[in-house]
Amino acid sequence: MEGSCARCILKIHQDGEYFFLRVWLKRVNNMEILRVDNLCKVYGEGENAVHALDDVSFTANRGEFISIVGSSGSGKSTLLHMIGGVDRPTSGKVTVGGINVYSQDEEELAIFRRRQVGLIYQFYNLIPNLTVDENIILPCLLDHRRPDNKKLERIVEMTGLSHRRTHFPGELSGGQQQRVSVGRALVNDPMFILADEPTGNLDSKAGREIIELLMAANQREKQTLILITHDEKIALQADRIITISDGRIIRDEVIRL
Ligand SMILES: Nc1ncnc2c1ncn2[C@@H]1O[C@H](COP(=O)(O)OP(=O)(O)OP(=O)(O)O)[C@@H](O)[C@H]1O
Ligand SMILES: [Mg+2]
Repeated sequence: MEGSCARCILKIHQDGEYFFLRVWLKRVNNMEILRVDNLCKVYGEGENAVHALDDVSFTANRGEFISIVGSSGSGKSTLLHMIGGVDRPTSGKVTVGGINVYSQDEEELAIFRRRQVGLIYQFYNLIPNLTVDENIILPCLLDHRRPDNKKLERIVEMTGLSHRRTHFPGELSGGQQQRVSVGRALVNDPMFILADEPTGNLDSKAGREIIELLMAANQREKQTLILITHDEKIALQADRIITISDGRIIRDEVIRL
């Protein structure tokens, strides 16, 4: 196992492709794919310093669904950004598939984000002058890849937006816009789906549909789903709940195996 891992890493460093890593990961179920070690994030300096994350450590397996809960300002979004390669930690380590994420240079980090992470935010973050289809395939275009039409059709159908493909975000309901952002997050078959309060701006029916979509991807593709929520009912649907307070993990409970 060690040897094949080393070969994967070698291949990644040789040509920047994650293909062999993905093949290797797909062959092994329930393996640890994420390791967070002693993560700290300090914003600002001196008297203004904010310790957003303070010595956070945990691991996650492939295909796990983890809810992250905690009061406002406790560090949930900061943690998600560190896992997703969005922002560098002050200290500590994030390891994905044996690779130290922040040992990579900016270009490798950008490839990691584009290919291995699907991020979903509370306020959709869609591009207003792009259609539904164009918003969904954006991560492929940014990755200089030709979008696969069959896959696009499958995603559009899965998100229930087949009749809205040429519409712009401003012409869609909040729930529909969030479904576009789920489609966009899934288009590159990422290893992780990281969702930051994806239902926070939606009514309960639209919110349920989003959670169903995310859970379907998590179960079907064994994508690891890490979801921040303030909604206890949603949190309880996960395999595991991590509670954060003042930048620290204060509870890590397994809900179901
Ligand atoms: N860019 C930044 N500069 C300075 N401080 C920041 C920055 N981003 C976050 N913080 C601070 O870090 C702490 C954690 O913020 P974070 O956004 O992770 O909280 P959160 O748990 O996601 O809260 P919420 O539930 O309100 O979204 C807060 O005290 C916040 O003010
Ligand atoms: Mg937040």
